[in-house]
Amino acid sequence: MDDAHARACHDPGLALRGTLTRLTGLVLEAAGLRVPVGSQCLVRMGEQAPVLAEVVGFSDQRAFLMPAGDVHGLSSGASVMPAPPYVPVPRLGEPERNVTARVGVLRLPLGTGLLGRVVDPQGAPLDHQGPLADVTAEPLDRQPINAMDRAPVREPLDTGVRAINALLTVGRGQRIGLFAGSGVGKSVLLGMMARYTAADVIVVGLIGERGREVKEFVEDILGAEGRARSVVVAAPADAPPLLRMQGAAYATAVAEYFRDRGQHVLLLMDSLTRYAMAQREIALAIGEPPATKGYPPSCFAKLPQLVERSGNGLNGNGSITAFYTVLSEGDDQQDPIADAARAILDGHIVLSRGLAEEAHFPAIDVEQSASRVMHNVVSREHTECARRFRATYSRYRQSRDLVRLGAYAPGSDPVLDEAIRLQPAMTAFLQQDMHQAASLDASIGAMAHTIGF
Ligand SMILES: Nc1ncnc2c1ncn2[C@@H]1O[C@H](COP(=O)(O)OP(=O)(O)O)[C@@H](O)[C@H]1O
Ligand SMILES: [Mg+2]
Repeated sequence: MDDAHARACHDPGLALRGTLTRLTGLVLEAAGLRVPVGSQCLVRMGEQAPVLAEVVGFSDQRAFLMPAGDVHGLSSGASVMPAPPYVPVPRLGEPERNVTARVGVLRLPLGTGLLGRVVDPQGAPLDHQGPLADVTAEPLDRQPINAMDRAPVREPLDTGVRAINALLTVGRGQRIGLFAGSGVGKSVLLGMMARYTAADVIVVGLIGERGREVKEFVEDILGAEGRARSVVVAAPADAPPLLRMQGAAYATAVAEYFRDRGQHVLLLMDSLTRYAMAQREIALAIGEPPATKGYPPSCFAKLPQLVERSGNGLNGNGSITAFYTVLSEGDDQQDPIADAARAILDGHIVLSRGLAEEAHFPAIDVEQSASRVMHNVVSREHTECARRFRATYSRYRQSRDLVRLGAYAPGSDPVLDEAIRLQPAMTAFLQQDMHQAASLDASIGAMAHTIGF
């Protein structure tokens, strides 16, 4: 037993062995176990393979745990012990790190060997390409960077998507919500960004999607081109809620790993809503009372904790630009997760079912979308051009029904006449084939050309 573990065993405040007393729904209860919340434990039952579980709460002498695997075969009396700490073996020539191992700390593989790979929330490869090489096990829980020490968002990021580049310019280190219902082109848009964005590394967190969608995203949408510089962490809908949350945390840790090496990372998290739902399942199971629309307060506390970890690094040191998808049907403005997300993100892009139904792709509703950092990252001329484009486009959309019905007499409103004249070109500008990239410069040029700016 290593030193740290031995020290922990002598900590009088801890009790490192408990007994399983109860299993209801998703929650395991252990008596006699006293270890910190967040500790990883192994539940052992005879010869059966141990089940990994995390301490998520306690009440007096009882600890509540959520399993990370199948609980089949467990019964009352099984032993519950913290998982032994992982102590990395120093490589030749590397200075020995000061390991302050705590019992039961979750460590997952991080390293350049993750590039091009698809892994599950526990770091196990899902892509049948053999074990991971060039990775070391690192603690998953990290402190976010102090907001005051972060480099501000000052540089534009080329996403390869014309409508976003021109009208909703994203800054390096920005965090944006992608609000959409199902089937309106979220995955395709994320795939376009994964393939075309000017970033060194793309990290994709697929949280709570159906298994088939994960395969489709990796094979068809991301393609070989996108995959080479991507890391995909997939926690499908049938994974226990603990693992779905862990998948989001792991994807974020992978992004932090590359950022801290000075690289520019694009983090695509699909979806933030399913992350919140996983936390809701856990919180309700251990008895937290529901507050807003069935979501207990802890869900709203977890969202900013996750989102705050992305963003720019310390001055001049890498960045994580992040897109978080939020499930919302356009007209449902009451969804508490969408509300919370809007408040903590620096911009939102809304995909509209109406546009998707008109086969207008990407179905970005530019009138409803906004990038809060755009004015910090583009020229004044660009801001003015985008403003004019939006105003003209909006003018047409508002009067569209009148115009279509023939109820509008041309000539009576010169602004609307201009909007009607420019409408086909503006629509063509906003649409984009999913297999074509539009660079930032080309996007700005095309926007100015479209409205004769
Ligand atoms: N840029 C695009 N060009 C053409 N068709 C698209 C585009 N984006 C989405 N679609 C169509 O919309 C369907 C649903 O898109 P998808 O990204 O899977 O939706 P979501 O992830 O929101 O459920 C796709 O199968 C495709 O037919
Ligand atoms: Mg999808």
